Amino acid sequence: MKRAVAQLFGLCYISFATFLMLFSERLSPMVHESVKQHHARISAEIRRHNRLYYQLDRPEISDAEYDRLFRELQGLETKHPELASADSPVRQVGAPPAGKFSPVRHAVPMLSLRNARDLAEFREFDKSLRQTFLAGVDLLEYACEMKLDGVAVELSYEHGHLVRASTRGDGSVGEDITDNIRTLTGIPHQLKDYPPLLDVRGEVFIDLDDFQRLNRRQQEAGEKTFANPRNAAAGSLRQLDAAVTASRSLRMYCYGVGRGEGLDLPTQLAILKQLQDYGLPVNLTGTSLCLGPDQVAECFNHLLAQRETLGYEIDGMVVKVNDLELQQELGELNRRPRWAIALKFPPRQATTRVESVVLQVGRTGAITPVAHLEPVNISGVTVSRASLHNWDEIARLGLLSGDSVIVERAGDVIPDIVKVLHQRRSGAEQQIPFPEWCPECEAPVSKEENEVVPRCTNSSCPARTIERLKHFVSRGAMNIDGLGEKQLRQLNDLGKVHDCADLYQLGQPDLFAMERMGETLAGKLLQSIADSRTRPLSRLIFALGIRHVGEQTAKLLARSFANLEALAQAEPEELKQLHEIGDKVAESLCDFFRDPLQIDLLQRLRENGVDPQSEAVATQGGPLSGKSVVITGTLQRWSRREAEQRVEHLGGRCASSVSKKTAMVIAGDNAGSKLDKARALGIEILDEQRFAELVEGAQP
Ligand code: IVH
Repeated sequence: MKRAVAQLFGLCYISFATFLMLFSERLSPMVHESVKQHHARISAEIRRHNRLYYQLDRPEISDAEYDRLFRELQGLETKHPELASADSPVRQVGAPPAGKFSPVRHAVPMLSLRNARDLAEFREFDKSLRQTFLAGVDLLEYACEMKLDGVAVELSYEHGHLVRASTRGDGSVGEDITDNIRTLTGIPHQLKDYPPLLDVRGEVFIDLDDFQRLNRRQQEAGEKTFANPRNAAAGSLRQLDAAVTASRSLRMYCYGVGRGEGLDLPTQLAILKQLQDYGLPVNLTGTSLCLGPDQVAECFNHLLAQRETLGYEIDGMVVKVNDLELQQELGELNRRPRWAIALKFPPRQATTRVESVVLQVGRTGAITPVAHLEPVNISGVTVSRASLHNWDEIARLGLLSGDSVIVERAGDVIPDIVKVLHQRRSGAEQQIPFPEWCPECEAPVSKEENEVVPRCTNSSCPARTIERLKHFVSRGAMNIDGLGEKQLRQLNDLGKVHDCADLYQLGQPDLFAMERMGETLAGKLLQSIADSRTRPLSRLIFALGIRHVGEQTAKLLARSFANLEALAQAEPEELKQLHEIGDKVAESLCDFFRDPLQIDLLQRLRENGVDPQSEAVATQGGPLSGKSVVITGTLQRWSRREAEQRVEHLGGRCASSVSKKTAMVIAGDNAGSKLDKARALGIEILDEQRFAELVEGAQP
């Protein structure tokens, strides 16, 4: 709330300062001071949004709003050049690295692009280039590329070998994300044919269906979901654990070269073709050559029409002078090339009204506010709901139920409310109170200190029960066909099913009590319930809906424990020995398995024949079978992830720290304290060579 008031105050301040500024030239030097303050204030505001967008993957305003602020600052500096300092956001690119990864200095700085809001602005850009720099040139040749909405990345190849990958950072220094980039299947580790040194630039992004799948997975595991595909790509790329990046299906398209030794090409299009010949992913079909602004306009309109069918998010078209010599001549200004411009698409926005705010109770009890809207069409999609995320978001927007709002679709089907139109208030709008009681079962609500989400405290809340059952039968979990929300609600209302174990006790007479249930359908349903008894252990662990346990974690646990009983008995320390399991997950697992209700549930599942055994049986005969292994130092032959996979293949389990329970330590170069500890504890130590022999010996 405080933040919302501060922002409101900020907005009033900005408008007042703009008013003063308009008259500043005719007024005294004292007023000029307020222009300075206004400049400082917008600069700080933009810096804050840069940090939120580039470092935290948590933008608070839409791209369109950001562009407006940026232009306001640019306008101020044009009018008052004395305000234009070297560190003004106008002359900056992105944000400096957040310190999570090692810094990488780019051999050639990675620049940003200036924007054109519409075709008219592009025509001005074209005209000014020709008039100011290229007198006598009538029609310029442009390479028009899609502007992918993802994360800018540089790949460095030495003698064709991928040696480093980094983010753009502030343009001069980015972050080392080599391990993560190596997990992207579309990026070659070795080029086919290559110059001695090559720094390639491109955009890493995620397909829309992978984005939606990822968010579903995150939600099922009780993890935070991503606001849009760009945030998902950025968040997935900047993971400390490369295995997480590997599970996120990221893609990359290359669009340029930084340092390129021995590369002598005439045009941008020739660069793209060359990169493709090296074996790099390039979006050549999405690139056109245009002569003059009319052709650019045609191309832009065509791309705009194509936008919804692409399967990934683009936010405009990048127009580049095709001739590289001309590019050289034009150079750059304010760390943006003079020879290129981003022709942005209009935001997919519409104005509508919030009819009501409905509170939804999820499986874990999380209560989420959802805005029900007067239906409105945004670029072909009828929108009638918007996610509000939580009460911090409501406060930030200053939203009341009944407000007129601007909604924006950004790559997802569920749009966001980006702005409240306060001036349209009638006075009948109503506060959206933070709930004290669960809207479904009226149990008290709790809110943990560092969380923004209120939760229903009643684990038998009917809304939670239905959500839990829906999750249990869902495709990624036990995959029971024919049991949708409607059927589950009926069975619950009839008193037949309260939890997942009850499903396995259903008989034909129970089903006949349901609407439209004949013999054939009932038979089929009972069969699919029976079939689900043989689902692998990982599916059952995932299906239980334990907080923070998504599909990946469930797979890991299923590989490490013989059955549910063994997992339920595990101590937190034992769980944390597993690589990828941190405090949060270990705690959540222990809470779950100590809850008397869950103990009873697991017991009844077992009694009903749901007791799958570990999938790791196949590797149980391996030379590392059942052993806890720690890898430390740098291995030459494998990345850390690859080595871990090999350990698992040999039947072992990877842990991150050495303890008495560690059976073996694999030590690469520069191994440090973990190796010392292993020596002190007398644990078996293998160097890379001996580990390699073990791996080779086990190969069929
Ligand atoms: S060229 C010197 N081409 O847009 C030119 N950028 O600020 C620099 N982008 O960070 C970029 N698609 O991440 C270029 N086809 C494309 C692009 C593209 C997306 C991104 C890039 C850059 C941002 C512009």
